[in-house]
Amino acid sequence: MKINNPWLQISSEDYEHHMSAPNVGQLQMLDEIFENVLNEFSPGSIAVLGCTAGNGFQHLVNRELERVVGIDINFKYLAECRAWFVQDIVNLQLICADLNEIELSGSIFDLIHAALIFEYVNAEKLLEKIFGWLKPDGILSVVLQLSSEKSEPVSDTPYQALKLLSSFMHLADVKEFKEKAYAIGFSEDREPEIKTIGGKNFIEMYFKK
Ligand SMILES: C[S@@+](CC[C@H](N)C(=O)[O-])C[C@H]1O[C@@H](n2cnc3c(N)ncnc32)[C@H](O)[C@@H]1O
Repeated sequence: MKINNPWLQISSEDYEHHMSAPNVGQLQMLDEIFENVLNEFSPGSIAVLGCTAGNGFQHLVNRELERVVGIDINFKYLAECRAWFVQDIVNLQLICADLNEIELSGSIFDLIHAALIFEYVNAEKLLEKIFGWLKPDGILSVVLQLSSEKSEPVSDTPYQALKLLSSFMHLADVKEFKEKAYAIGFSEDREPEIKTIGGKNFIEMYFKK
């Protein structure tokens, strides 16, 4: 794990305050997207990549899930996630790991949710790993931030630690991202949706193994 990864220097308080600031609004958007994904696909087993402190995990409570895995590089986020949800989410497993390095064995997930994480990792390598981790016909749900000439990738808020991400994040080109996914063997499962919030555009995409 790279100890100079800027995500290790951002407290969950700063992250959550930044993401829910009125000019950002992404925490709420991501929470809603996750709820819709769960309702739509009703997975029996799920992995959430870059799960933070469990944004949206309240939608996993009272669901019948044989496996729930959250992966994040920031141990403190996971400790909070555990404190919030371990009592209420059956079969919750939290793994502190760098997604560029982690290997998991078996094709074990019905759904892998990857919202605003491809900006920080080697997308092609992670797509290959996800393909291996999904069961046949499993679904990958992806949220990507789209580049914009009008706004900086990281919005201005009083939470300066988030600025560390500006030079670290890479916004994906959607066409290239799809091509990589198809080359690995994914097919597109439904029409992507574009969401606009805080002057930024995001795309929600679904791929089937
Ligand atoms: C923008 S947040 C993700 C938002 C979250 N998925 C949601 O729906 O609310 C990015 C998360 O990815 C984690 N992360 C960044 N790079 C990572 C890496 N290489 N491996 C694992 N987690 C990483 C960060 O610690 C952070 O929690």
